[in-house]
Amino acid sequence: MAVIEVRDLYKSYGKTVALRGASFSVPSKTVAALLGPNGSGKTTTLKILVGVLKRDRGDVKVFGFDPWINGVEVRERLGILHEKPIFPGDVKVKVLLKYLAKLKGYSGSEVERVARITGLVKYLDSRVKSLSRGYLQRLGLAQALIGDPELLLLDEPTANLDPLARREILRLIKSFQKELGVTILVSSHIIPELEEICEYAVFIKEGIIVDYGRLEDLSKKYFTEVSYRVVVEKPRELASKAISFDFVKGVEVEENSVEIKVKAGRVSELADFLESSKDTYGVRKVEFVRAELGDLYERAVAGT
Ligand SMILES: Nc1ncnc2c1ncn2[C@@H]1O[C@H](COP(=O)(O)OP(=O)(O)OP(=O)(O)O)[C@@H](O)[C@H]1O
Ligand SMILES: [Mg+2]
Repeated sequence: MAVIEVRDLYKSYGKTVALRGASFSVPSKTVAALLGPNGSGKTTTLKILVGVLKRDRGDVKVFGFDPWINGVEVRERLGILHEKPIFPGDVKVKVLLKYLAKLKGYSGSEVERVARITGLVKYLDSRVKSLSRGYLQRLGLAQALIGDPELLLLDEPTANLDPLARREILRLIKSFQKELGVTILVSSHIIPELEEICEYAVFIKEGIIVDYGRLEDLSKKYFTEVSYRVVVEKPRELASKAISFDFVKGVEVEENSVEIKVKAGRVSELADFLESSKDTYGVRKVEFVRAELGDLYERAVAGT
């Protein structure tokens, strides 16, 4: 089921048109990337989803509710990290989180929980202004996680971080999906940045969603050939059999796997072959090798 459904969304700020007919959906328990250059409408979209900005027209459903009309119902079930969160500097991390938890109707034990998940426990007694940028961003994530939301909206969570802090934040976000089973929509203007953490993408350009979907499906749609990595006991034997099929375009043998490139329209034939010869070659695992986000974005934009 889709947690987010957006149809034909329009929003202008005076003469500036920020969204011009944006449509997309995000399925439950997915890490979805909202990707597009500066000024393409990412923040506008997220603000409309959380119900703090009114759209001009179009349909928006979050958990099946219209966030502008049923904002309370929606906000109870989601957490958001805004683009440039501003926290008071002089208070202790613990005090701030306790205050924010109380606003949502939660107690001190919720503060401990979110601090643990975000690695903030040893900074609970520090003042907010003493935190590094990376830890400030963890604080932003911690406040978003208060109340164990079903959906997280993260607006450029890695902006202004050094490469190491960036990686730590991305790893943390990935862990939320694995350990908390939460749906995540995370925006970035650096297209390849979310490569390792997302399985779904929404590509935005100049207020229009140029395409969206599972990366595997987008790869099949935009590329005539796709690759699978087959972890197998007899890679050489499997490779020499595979290359004899006309739907196989290439094989690459590694120590305990084979990468097989097939015509995108004939993936099911590879699947049938692997299934029927599973025991012969000792097939352990088959994983899709998807196209890179930057390449997918370019193809999606070119197709509009
Ligand atoms: N409050 C506002 N008043 C006027 N124009 C605005 C306002 N907020 C956004 N815009 C304009 O709307 C367009 C979309 O902005 P938005 O902030 O949604 O883009 P974005 O994709 O989040 O960009 P960035 O990557 O820079 O954060 C831009 O042209 C921007 O200048
Ligand atoms: Mg923005």
